[in-house]
Amino acid sequence: MERTYLMVKPDGVQRNLIGDIVSRFEKKGFQLVGAKLMNVSKATAEEHYAEHKERPFFGELVDFITSGPVFAMVWQGENVIATARQMMGATNPKDALPGTIRGDFGVTVGKNIIHGSDSPESAQREIGIFFKEEELTEYSKSM
Ligand code: CMP
Repeated sequence: MERTYLMVKPDGVQRNLIGDIVSRFEKKGFQLVGAKLMNVSKATAEEHYAEHKERPFFGELVDFITSGPVFAMVWQGENVIATARQMMGATNPKDALPGTIRGDFGVTVGKNIIHGSDSPESAQREIGIFFKEEELTEYSKSM
């Protein structure tokens, strides 16, 4: 079963959007297999965002993601990686359609509410950064 890593960023947590965001993925039909409210260390933030290391906004990105608690999640389901990204909307909320998470709640690209893995490789890598195997749940195959 395909899995993805989704994270409500500090702006989404502070604006009390965890429930709404979890609800969207639950109602869509995906299964939550792991979740925790946590603070991200600088080292973990730098590892997670390593591909953006050379970008001018890297420092700002690391400062932001470590500025307050995030809600880290692993979801599973058919095509969950691509579908979750559709549900999140474009990275820059100004381009995100109404009805998507960023389209409904976000204004600026830095504070864009949620992160989601962009490929199976990223999903595996990011899940491994934020979760231990024993923190992830198995569902009955009959469900
Ligand atoms: P995310 O999906 O978490 O992955 C990388 C993040 O970089 C992205 O969401 C944005 O929040 C952030 N980002 C992209 N472009 C900029 C920018 N120009 N300034 C600040 N942050 C940015």
